[in-house]
Amino acid sequence: SIAAVSEKQKKMSHVEAKGFVDEMRVVAMKMHTKDQAKEGEKESNEQEPEGQPLSKWEPSIEGYLKFLVDSKLVFDTLEKIVENPHFTEYAEFRNTRLERSERLAKDLVGLKEKYRAIPEPSTHGINYAQYLKEISENDTQAFMCHFYNIYFAHSAGGRMIGRKVAEKLLNKEVLEFYKWDGDLSQLLQNVRDKLNNIAQSWTREEKNHCLEETEKSFKFSGDILRLILS
Ligand code: HEM
Repeated sequence: SIAAVSEKQKKMSHVEAKGFVDEMRVVAMKMHTKDQAKEGEKESNEQEPEGQPLSKWEPSIEGYLKFLVDSKLVFDTLEKIVENPHFTEYAEFRNTRLERSERLAKDLVGLKEKYRAIPEPSTHGINYAQYLKEISENDTQAFMCHFYNIYFAHSAGGRMIGRKVAEKLLNKEVLEFYKWDGDLSQLLQNVRDKLNNIAQSWTREEKNHCLEETEKSFKFSGDILRLILS
């Protein structure tokens, strides 16, 4: 009936009113395994040990150092891209205070004193940095997908991983990588607002393209995460 249709349209417009980031989040949450997050839908498999519950993780310090070095390369790359943007719209995403590059640099100085050998970036980090640079110049929707997933993953699962590794390997010392100045939930909300804003100018096809990129984001980040268990 017409009444039913208009009821449905009301609900739809309510969904739209919540903004595009909610759509990005729904897609991202499905890409988790059930062991990683309640809303996860992906099956665990042997090739991807990072899909196992954190309680079963056996991290190594060598592996964790590799992970931090590759993470630094990825954050350095993202933060340089927005500092020196190929498209002016990226400039909105400067100084979000979610930036991680300087903090990781500090952590690696401290860890170098303690453990001496800091590895060079691995092919996983190098490949991801290269890919981010490319899409930042030719695919805004894909770039914004990675930008969202990298910063938001770090604020959620990333922190849980940090706590776990700190317990097992670092005598519970919390690295700078897991500290933010100011209220993290407010900083995240500011970035959600900016992402919703930029996505308002996208067509439905462009939005779908952005959502479809989530899988690659998980693939690249999964390769780097897995280093912790190597
Ligand atoms: C959110 C865990 C890997 C992207 C979450 C949440 C959990 C979680 C528990 C939900 C937080 C909430 O209750 O709202 C994990 C664990 C991971 C992992 C344990 C690996 C061991 C990843 C990866 C990505 C990712 C590889 C993408 C690169 C996200 C995003 C959110 C999220 C975008 C939404 C955050 C928000 O809405 O604020 N993760 N995650 N996660 N995760 Fe992960």
